[in-house]
Amino acid sequence: MRDASKPVTYDELGFVGLIRFDNPPVNALNHQVRTGLAEALARATKSPQIKAVLIISGGNMFSAGADLKEFDGPLAEPSLQQLQAAIEMAPVPVVAAISGLALGGGLELALACHYRIAHKSAKLGLPEITLGIVPGAGGTQRLPRLIGSRPALEMILSGAPIAAADAMAKGLVDKVVGGDLGDSAINHCKSLVHDRLGPRPTRNLTVSGNLDESTISEILGAHARALKGRTTQKLVVDAVRAAVLPFADGIAIEAANANKSLASRESLALRHVFFAERESGKVEGLPQRATQPEINRVAIVGAGTMGSGIAMVFADAGRSVTLIDTDDAALARSGTAIRSNYASSVKRGRLSQEIADERMSRIRGRTKLADVAAADIAIEAVFEDMDLKKKVLSSLDSLLPADRLIATNTSALSVTELGRATAHASRVLGLHFFVPAQASKLLEIVRGKDTTLDTLAIALDVAKLLKKFPVVSGDAFGFIGNRMMLDGYFREAEQLLLEGASPQQVDTALEQFGFAMGPQRVSDLGGNDVGTKVRVQLFKRESRPDPYFVIADRLTKLGRLGQKTGRGFYRYLEGRRDAFPDPDVDKLIEELASERGIVGREIGDEEIVERCVLALINVGAMVLDDGIATRASDIDVVWTSGYGFPRHLGGPMFYADTLGLAHVVKRIRHYHEKLGYYWCPAGLIERLAAENSTFEQWDRQRKAGVLTLAV
Ligand code: COA
Repeated sequence: MRDASKPVTYDELGFVGLIRFDNPPVNALNHQVRTGLAEALARATKSPQIKAVLIISGGNMFSAGADLKEFDGPLAEPSLQQLQAAIEMAPVPVVAAISGLALGGGLELALACHYRIAHKSAKLGLPEITLGIVPGAGGTQRLPRLIGSRPALEMILSGAPIAAADAMAKGLVDKVVGGDLGDSAINHCKSLVHDRLGPRPTRNLTVSGNLDESTISEILGAHARALKGRTTQKLVVDAVRAAVLPFADGIAIEAANANKSLASRESLALRHVFFAERESGKVEGLPQRATQPEINRVAIVGAGTMGSGIAMVFADAGRSVTLIDTDDAALARSGTAIRSNYASSVKRGRLSQEIADERMSRIRGRTKLADVAAADIAIEAVFEDMDLKKKVLSSLDSLLPADRLIATNTSALSVTELGRATAHASRVLGLHFFVPAQASKLLEIVRGKDTTLDTLAIALDVAKLLKKFPVVSGDAFGFIGNRMMLDGYFREAEQLLLEGASPQQVDTALEQFGFAMGPQRVSDLGGNDVGTKVRVQLFKRESRPDPYFVIADRLTKLGRLGQKTGRGFYRYLEGRRDAFPDPDVDKLIEELASERGIVGREIGDEEIVERCVLALINVGAMVLDDGIATRASDIDVVWTSGYGFPRHLGGPMFYADTLGLAHVVKRIRHYHEKLGYYWCPAGLIERLAAENSTFEQWDRQRKAGVLTLAV
């Protein structure tokens, strides 16, 4: 049995020294593992009968790399670099056997071995850039020595892992095998010894290929979108360029740049989001379950855009889907849309025709609600209409066995009220998917007042199955994301238009801040009518005084629905997405402003960004204080994965911490005085600022049970 206190074991199989390391769940190279590996290597190299050493994972993943939790303090020795030096200097060949994933420090460990053998299902990569880090254990120096400088820079800047066969073609691994990796790797060691192939330190190889300016800008250009607003790439380029220098000089540049990157705000923010995404699915008090309920058959009611998107998400996850709509024509339209969506994925090379056909075949259209009966879970995705939704949910409740989850995909209505339209409100909750359902990583799970933890547990299983980040929200106006968007971010953007900023000025300022798309362009893309409809429903729950989306609602009234009608906040040419300013809209905004006695003025970009982002933070704090969101970090996940907030700024609440809450409160009070009631500072920010605290500390205290929650 595995002894958790000893993650590394050493055995001798004839003349092969076998080092196994096993540190679940991802075989991270923490201090204990590094110590164990260094000790085992020393034993092997001192043992007179050992002629080759094999390093292999005891689990099914080679290693996900350095232990990210160790990055917050000084690293205890032996460092990975010291371990690698010992491997390279070993007097006998050292072989890495790669199964599953070899990422980051995991791959860097393998790069320092003299030979590499991989299972055909293995994937290898340096994902550090996604965390704002320069690979710091020789990755920028050894990878170019093995595969050439250009492919190395491409691989490090993309951060995406490559398959074993590709790694073999590039020269990153020496052999790819199927079947049992351990057996093949031992045989590989034996043949090295037989062929008298000794140690081959990667540091002694020379780099092939040249990284001139035009090659670098071409590669950076290919990743420009993913790296927008980021700085790590510059440090990566410097380090990879240094690989042509003597190894010691190159590695010194890598170390300096890796340290710089680790200390950067960008990296702190990206690491915060990484852990926040993993934390968000953890809910206190969930029942211990002996077995997990099966989720194989899914019924979706309502074949509109959302229902069709959700059907594809489940089909992509290998589930069979019954898509129900009583309207034949709606089903036919949905079938066409789904088919054309898959066809476009095939055309872009994202899917093979065979896989697309297989996914398509998992979705069956039906017109009778009774067809839900065999489903493991059912999701209602009909129009946002309380009575209609209640009727559908109540029918689902009578058709499905009492242990099945019933979800509503509402983005506006009260989940509690909808649940109470059934005889089993305990099994009803909200699954709020975002558009496009297939691409968006966020899944808001809305817990009604009667929803039980058992039901919540199934919803979390659903999120896992769909590889989405679940964030649990209380059942209140707009849940987490839309509340912050409507009461905070978008409302402020509209207010700025009324005060004299143009749609393109607001959008450009926020896009330069790092948002994927500015608020007005988002409204035009999603459809101004869609926003208006959601607000009408929300207002039945709680109303908001004028001015509240007066511009967007007027555009809807005028039929300026956005891209789909060629006119919205902007003008569009047929079939194009480029947004052109429209003087008619400027005139309309002026009219709406003067009706409200607002006199236009010049507004700077800085003010636009500050007001929109502070408004977002302020409402976020209210959502947290009201117990609608559990953690500040959950809000960051909602905004970075569902609403285009720049990941490298960590999400609105993390960003607030970096601004300093005392400063945030001061500025919010300033706008409160200037603009009135709706800028009233959230009590939680005032309290935290007074205590010189942060949202991160608040999360930590909450986790430790020091805080009492309002829920
Ligand atoms: N260091 C420390 N903890 C790590 C880790 C790392 N490098 N990689 C993953 N973990 C932890 C996660 O936080 C999670 O912990 P939790 O269960 O307490 O929440 C657990 O390992 C499982 O990770 P998760 O991401 O939920 O599993 P997965 O199977 O979906 O994905 C990976 C596995 C390896 C693909 C993914 O975790 C990953 O990308 N890790 C980071 C890899 C990386 O960037 N390495 C370079 C580090 S410099």
